[in-house]
Amino acid sequence: MKVILTESYEESARKGAEIILDAVARDPGLLLGLATGETPVAIYRLLREACAAGTADFSKARTVNLDEYVGCREEDSYRRFMDENLFDGINLDKSKITIADHAADPAGEVVRLRAFFGANRVDLQLLGIGPNGHIGFNEPDSELEAGVHVTGLTESTKRANAHWFADGAVPDQAITMGMGDILKAKSILLVVKGESKREVLRGLLDGGKVTTRNPATFLLLHPDVTVVTERSLTV
Ligand code: PGA
Repeated sequence: MKVILTESYEESARKGAEIILDAVARDPGLLLGLATGETPVAIYRLLREACAAGTADFSKARTVNLDEYVGCREEDSYRRFMDENLFDGINLDKSKITIADHAADPAGEVVRLRAFFGANRVDLQLLGIGPNGHIGFNEPDSELEAGVHVTGLTESTKRANAHWFADGAVPDQAITMGMGDILKAKSILLVVKGESKREVLRGLLDGGKVTTRNPATFLLLHPDVTVVTERSLTV
């Protein structure tokens, strides 16, 4: 695991954007795995700026998102977040976007997305991490699912994400890529932002142990993971 320590979130975002832009320049038709939440916001801003400056070209790229809420309002969906933060600001062909549909029958979406991951391998997967160690919505549990599935959200995740919802009511369920789908990505970029991640980050950086209680520790099993985080979170 490669660890890049930075002096600020802005610097982490610059490093993250650099890694994504390098990957797209090397392989314009790549499949990018994307994340939502606070962590990628500045990364996506930098990708939009690179596109506007003509230094990045996403026209041949494909994308797939880690997760989506089940049954939320359209304006609270991760699809809307992605449109506003990235998709509407870069020259991506929108027919090449894969993301669970928040309004569709979740069982049908699981079948559709399992078929997608059966036929496709992510080239570069961007990840954030939850305060409880989740990646995607693979929440800490006694077992973790390998493939795409519907999951209940823990109270801690609902609390952490409530600020995104006008009424504070986070849906009870989400559809998420499984741990196996994430670990099949050719390379993984984990960006860690925020004091609330200190404990789970320590588990990943120091522990040397893989545990379903901190799902991010499964990244220790992957041969090509880069972690970008503020130095202050590691001391
Ligand atoms: P955050 O969420 O980027 O909003 O902190 C990360 C996550 O829950 O995976």
